[in-house]
Amino acid sequence: MYFTDYISGTVIQGLGNGRKFGFPTANVQPDTPVSLEKGAYATWVNYDGKRHKGMLYVGTRPTLGLHELTYEIHVIDASPKLYGKKIAFKPVYKIAEEKKFRNEKELIKALFSYKGTAKMMLSPSRSHLFNPRLDDIDDIMKIIGQAKNRMNKMGLDQWQDGYPDEETIRNDKRKHQAVIVKNWFGPAAYAAIVFDKAPHYEKIDGKWLSEGEPYVVVHRLAVADEYLGLDLAKHILRFAERKARAKGVRWFRIDTHHDNIPMRNLIRSFGFTFCGVVQVRDGKRMAYEKRIRN
Ligand SMILES: Cc1cc2nc3c(=O)[nH]c(=O)nc-3n(C[C@H](O)[C@H](O)[C@H](O)COP(=O)(O)O)c2cc1C
Repeated sequence: MYFTDYISGTVIQGLGNGRKFGFPTANVQPDTPVSLEKGAYATWVNYDGKRHKGMLYVGTRPTLGLHELTYEIHVIDASPKLYGKKIAFKPVYKIAEEKKFRNEKELIKALFSYKGTAKMMLSPSRSHLFNPRLDDIDDIMKIIGQAKNRMNKMGLDQWQDGYPDEETIRNDKRKHQAVIVKNWFGPAAYAAIVFDKAPHYEKIDGKWLSEGEPYVVVHRLAVADEYLGLDLAKHILRFAERKARAKGVRWFRIDTHHDNIPMRNLIRSFGFTFCGVVQVRDGKRMAYEKRIRN
């Protein structure tokens, strides 16, 4: 399960039980009909121009004997006054199904546990980066397969020619340039962090920022479907920077397909400069570079 877009809505008057439980919630009236299964989710919530961590509840509050479907958001570690405000939220992970708890105490106990899970999921720095083991290869190929499917659905011709295949990944492993992100719940993302010179970067229709200096490249960056939107890709880019700094490498290069908008947005938000167009096996790519700060 994954969600791509933010859902916007207005915060309306609730019954106020949440405050009594220690988990105040904003009851949201979505602007347009949404189809979300009932349950508890880790969610991003945007208000006052900023993104915050939260939990979303979609359900009828059966524990309290209520029947009306509501969308409630609890903002984690903050108590903003949201009544009457416009907000937007993006659920990223389903934590639990809706339940009819035996009593309010049981409900509150569950809310504390959900909060722990939501915080964990929304903090990529708490995910762990590993050098994959040999038997991680199936997990990695699954993650890459999902990324390929999404690109195919987006109409991209990137990674539609069989690349990257198992041999490529085994080679990444052999060269100790493979990293896999695992969080609490399992394998979530893959990338190769490469310090070798990339032959396809030798010729560029444009100009690199650096000339003749060593650089790091992140290749084959892929995130599993159910872990999209959790900033894991950023987590990998930050890790690549740390690795480069430790080696005294000051430049960071990356490329992506012209129409891969999520990746281009990520690259831009990470401070890369567009340098020009390079040619890879299956076509042209937009090439970027940034200087790694201390
Ligand atoms: C993340 C989250 C999950 C929840 N899950 C359930 C649930 O499974 N069953 C339930 O009866 N209520 C659940 N609650 C809803 C509480 O009953 C609700 O927050 C409380 O009734 C407050 O609503 P009010 O502010 O409109 O009074 C959940 C609330 C949150 C924030």
